[in-house]
Order: sequence, then C-alpha cells, then structure tokens
Amino acid sequence: MNNVKWLENAVFYEIYPQSFNDTNGDGIGDFQGIIEKLDYIKELGCNAIWMNPCYDSPFLDAGYDVRDYYKAAPRYGTNDDLRRLFDEMHRRDMHILLDLVPGHTSWEHEWFKASCKGERNEYTDRYIWTDNTWEAPEGMNALIGLAERVGACGVNFFSHQPALNYGYYKPKPDKPWQQPMDAPGPKATLEAMKDIMRFWLKLGCDGFRVDMAHSLVKNDEDSKGTIALWQNVREFLDKEFPDAAMVSEWGEPDKSLQGGFHMDFLLHFGPSHYNDLFRCDKPFFGGEGDASEFVAKYLENRKKSGGKGLMCIPSGNHDMYRLAKYIHGDGLRISFAFLLSMPGAPFIYYGDEIGMRYVEGLYSVEGGYERTGSRSPMQWDSSENAGFSNAPADKLYIKLDPSDDRPTAEAAMADSGSLWHEIQRQTAVRMAHPALQSYGDIDFVYCEKDKYPLAYLRTGDNEKILVILNPSAKTVEFPFGGSLGEAVYRYGAMAAQSGGTVTVPAYSAGYYKV
Ligand code: GLC
Ligand code: CA
Repeated sequence: MNNVKWLENAVFYEIYPQSFNDTNGDGIGDFQGIIEKLDYIKELGCNAIWMNPCYDSPFLDAGYDVRDYYKAAPRYGTNDDLRRLFDEMHRRDMHILLDLVPGHTSWEHEWFKASCKGERNEYTDRYIWTDNTWEAPEGMNALIGLAERVGACGVNFFSHQPALNYGYYKPKPDKPWQQPMDAPGPKATLEAMKDIMRFWLKLGCDGFRVDMAHSLVKNDEDSKGTIALWQNVREFLDKEFPDAAMVSEWGEPDKSLQGGFHMDFLLHFGPSHYNDLFRCDKPFFGGEGDASEFVAKYLENRKKSGGKGLMCIPSGNHDMYRLAKYIHGDGLRISFAFLLSMPGAPFIYYGDEIGMRYVEGLYSVEGGYERTGSRSPMQWDSSENAGFSNAPADKLYIKLDPSDDRPTAEAAMADSGSLWHEIQRQTAVRMAHPALQSYGDIDFVYCEKDKYPLAYLRTGDNEKILVILNPSAKTVEFPFGGSLGEAVYRYGAMAAQSGGTVTVPAYSAGYYKV
C-alpha cells in the first residue's frame, strides 16, 4: 500500500454541505457556496476537505440514504459543478474526500426497488433478505411488508436504509438466505461499489471517508470478513488509483489499517475514551477531568496497529454535540493545540473554528434528531441570516443559532485574539514541523490519572517537539529529564524548567523544541 503523500501534512475541514453557504437563495448550501469559501478555509490553515454525502437522495438521513450514487444532489449542483469544486481545490493545492456510503442505500434506490420484485433479477441478492417475511435478520431491524417477494430486508440504521449484501462471514447452515462472501450476490455488490469509487476518482476526487466501514460483512465478530473485503478494495485501489486516500469510520485502527485504510477515526462511540477529553461531565479540556484512560487506549491502539496508529481525532462532526457545548474560552484554544499536534490528520468540523454553539431545542431535520443542533448554518457575518443565505429566515435548512452574541467568522477574523486566529497559528506551526504531522512519532511524557498537564513528545525528521497542555486553572508541574528549548508555539504563559521539573502555568499550551 502506498503512503499517500498529501496525507502527511493534511489538515481537514469537514463540510456539511447543506449548512455551509447558500448561493442561490434556496436556503440550502451548495457546491458554488463551497467554492466561494475555499480561500477562507485555506486561510484558516486547512488544506483538505471531507464533505458529507452530496449524492442524489430523499434526504431522510441527510444524504446517508443514497438514491443514486452517480449523481450529485440537484440541490447542491450538477456533477459538473462538483468537478469544478475538485478543480478549484486542486488549483489551491487542496484535496477532497467524498463520503462513501457502502453499507446501505435509500429505500428509493433503483437497486432496492428491483430487489423487492417477486421475479428473480440482477438485484434480488443486492440486499440482505431473509426467506420469511416475519423473520428479521438476527441483530438487525428490518423492513417488512413493502415487497412482492417473501422475506424481511435488514436495515443498517434508519428503517429507510436497507443493508447491502456483502455476505456473511459465517453463514448458518439452517439459514440458507445468509450468503457467503464469495457468493455471486455479495461479490456483485462489492464490484458495484468499486465502480462507484472509480467513477468519482476519475472525476477528480482524492479519496473517501467511508461511512460505517466496519459494518459491511455480517456475523463477523472479529471483523475478519470485513477486513478481507477492504483488502480486496485495497488491491483494486493499488492497481488503479494508488493515490486515493481512504479514511474509515471504524474506530478500531488495528482492524481498519489491516484492511488497507490509511487512517481511521477516533470517535464518540466505541472504546476510545475520546469523550473523556471533550464531551462528558468533566472533560479533560474543560479543566477538571482525566485524560489517562484515553491515553492508555490510544497507546494500545497504536501498538496493535504496528506503531502506525494513524488515528484522526476530530474537533467534532455532524453526529455529535458541538465542542463548544462543553468547552469554552481558553479550553477551546488548548483543545485545538492538542488536536493540531497529534499524529493522524486532524479534522476541524465547520464552525468549530469560531466556537459555534450547539443550538438547543430544534426539531429534527433530515433525520438529525439530537444531531440537528450541531448542523445549523455556518455563521459568516452580521448580515441577514448570518450571511449564510438570502432566503427568508423560515426557509433556511435548519434554524440559525438565535443568540445575539452568536460568533461569526467575520468578527473572529477581525480579532487577533480569537480562537480562529489561534487555530491559524497552530495549523501554520504544524505545517512547518513534520514532527507534529500525521506520521511523526508520539511518546507520552506525562499523563497521570486526574492530573494536569498532558505532555507528549512528537518526533520526526530529526526534530523533537514537546507538547505541554494545561487547560486547568492551576499551575502544575511534571518531571522531565530533557531540556526545554525554544517554543515554536505558545498560548498563555511560558513553561519554565528548573532541574528535572517543568512548571506549567494555568491555561497554557506550548510546543517546545527539546
Ligand atoms: C454514519 C454517519 C451518520 C449516518 C449513519 C448512517 O455514522 O456519520 O451521519 O446517519 O452513518 O449512514
Ligand atoms: Ca442553495
């Protein structure tokens, strides 16, 4: 497998296209809107984008319910507009990952309609169907009563998202409808997914963030089948698109990297303890929490993935509460000092760079439910609709944060002390120091249960940088045998060394040469 060169210093910006920038006044963001903000994203210091699904869809799950994998959703623009976005990005030396949703389609997809037919056809085995209308596939919810054929169709997430059939790792002999991975149906599904990847890669996208990558093969306890499936995809990519970047929504890097992904996400679900840092009663970056279990798990994952452990830690995403719901002020700045100095590519969720808030009390939009408040329109400036759209306020995709003091990009950029500028400084320092980038090594120097600071050494390219983070209100100390040199980045007061002890001021972050 190729190490994709640009991932080395990639800093991603996640765009939820509906809510980013509307240029035709329909209240929904669009491709042109993204193009117009590329310079903004670049100025912040991001050189890559992950865009949530932008394919034709009935949008019952914000586009994670694909109706046609080959067609851009008309509300965002055409395939040509999308190609223009790719070109505009490449012109700026930026890269883009599309969101690949291989696990399920919308129930409005033509494959599913054909699959529901009584008469056998090419798509009969495209989805997971039992042979009894009253029996759902084990461990899954199911769609029943919609088809001519007899059987229940398994769903992966919402009821309108029938599960594509990649086969069962261990089909049960008394359940003949459970097909092995190498049966013609599952094989055809995988080939269809490769065709879709081929199509978008040829059009100019640079790779994929893969939705629910862990979930494709069923009855697959240790993920052996799903890993084998992704290895098959890896072979195809190595042959045809060796430069395509693959990042998985999986949460278990030892498995996903074996499957040929370049990087995996650490997320709010699964065993990562990511929430301990940012989203719990006492998050570490709130100043009174604990990072030790997170670090223990991080190290375990790194070890299990052969020391590579390319885990991407996001500031947030469209599925979790906004970072600013739990962390404020200095804590936010120090959170980003962490995110932007860890291995793997950092991901900044749109709006997090200005501390956009979780909007409370919204009704669900497009299957968002409690996620809806994290998906509100980007706040650009103080004009009508925060500069997001010219549509009447009641036509906006999701309601804007109604507070008078809602943050905006314009105000943040005008204030050199803003979170925005702090992130800009941090990204610039990361770009200038390979030790801080994706593939640099990491050793934790100080991380004790319920204590501050968190200190780790990043190594790469003959350079060693010690990162020291103290989001707490107290001055703290830790033992350090090396010698602290110049600070290549600092927020708050400087750490000081005396003999084998480093004293770290309250609310401070620094990257020190050692
Ligand atoms: C992933 C997406 C989420 C979506 C789900 C079903 O977790 O991030 O937004 O609802 O998959 O596709
Ligand atoms: Ca629009």
